[in-house]
Amino acid sequence: MKDQLEKLRKDFLEQMASVPDKEALEAMRVAFLGKKGSLTALMKDLKDLSPEMKKEAGQTINQIKSEMESSIDKKFVDFDAVEIQRKIDCQWSDITWPSEPVQGSVHPISMVRAELEELFISMGFEIIDGPEMESEYYNFNALNIPADHPARDAQDTFWLRNGMLLRTQTSPVQIRGMQSRKPPFKFVSPGKVYRNEAVDASHEHTFHQIEGMVVDKGISVANLIYTLKKIVSNIFGHPVEIRLRPSFFPFVEPGFELDFKCQICGGKGCSVCKQTGWVEYLGCGMIHPNVLKNGGIDPEEYQGFAFGGGIERLVMMKYSIDDIRHFHGGDLRFMKQF
Ligand code: DAH
Repeated sequence: MKDQLEKLRKDFLEQMASVPDKEALEAMRVAFLGKKGSLTALMKDLKDLSPEMKKEAGQTINQIKSEMESSIDKKFVDFDAVEIQRKIDCQWSDITWPSEPVQGSVHPISMVRAELEELFISMGFEIIDGPEMESEYYNFNALNIPADHPARDAQDTFWLRNGMLLRTQTSPVQIRGMQSRKPPFKFVSPGKVYRNEAVDASHEHTFHQIEGMVVDKGISVANLIYTLKKIVSNIFGHPVEIRLRPSFFPFVEPGFELDFKCQICGGKGCSVCKQTGWVEYLGCGMIHPNVLKNGGIDPEEYQGFAFGGGIERLVMMKYSIDDIRHFHGGDLRFMKQF
């Protein structure tokens, strides 16, 4: 009996050292201490012993039983502690960890803006940025639009309390771009612009423009036409007919408006092109000598062309979107289509 008890104790300690989880621990409890367990079986054998041996063996069995019980209880508590710690570890989050892949889709304006940037980069243009909060000087005066000029009325301005304004066009980037580089250069600058306008299907208070500028020696309207035709064709993925109409912008002379053949009706006339077959796209022209001077460039030595137009209109054409308000509407059903 003594040997059997010793062996049982040894087996128990060995198994205890490597018990992997609570389930295995419960199985051990049943195997040693359960009704049909090995220690219980030895207890039943006590009755066959002599009274003295019974006493001694009984004491040993009780001692082993209470050792086993307390070590099993302690082990259960250990397993619980590990489980709690694991839960705490799961809840802990490292805010410096890179975020999950972004859910959702890229906004159609961002998509077309990225396409435009890539296209201009492939043609050797730099992409530059400018502030959305601008001074009156950069937004108007430096662009040959003095305080009393009627062209200011055409761009209803959000004035800020600090005397600055929200830029009404991306054209101020022309001046900033010229001031910070030496010709020859070419750059474009896409970004947000703001106008204090009543909102309807084709007007928003906040929209996007892309401004472009090329300054070099011997630049002519032919360079302007070539560049813009190439860009419009690339955007639509096939050659697109364009035309220039004389127009007035104080910062260019001569100034034009560029139209392209309506891509919805192919030029036959539809509601998008107001039955004309042509879509007005952007303003452009040869940079006015005063503007070159304000940018620190000698107009006797260098010439250039500039252009600027809305991005929304292009996106609307490309994806047949009939209302500009969809872009900022925040309707996921709209966004999920892209
Ligand atoms: N800034 C003008 C607007 O918002 C568009 C424009 C016209 C930009 C002619 C130009 C340009 O660069 O040359 O209406």
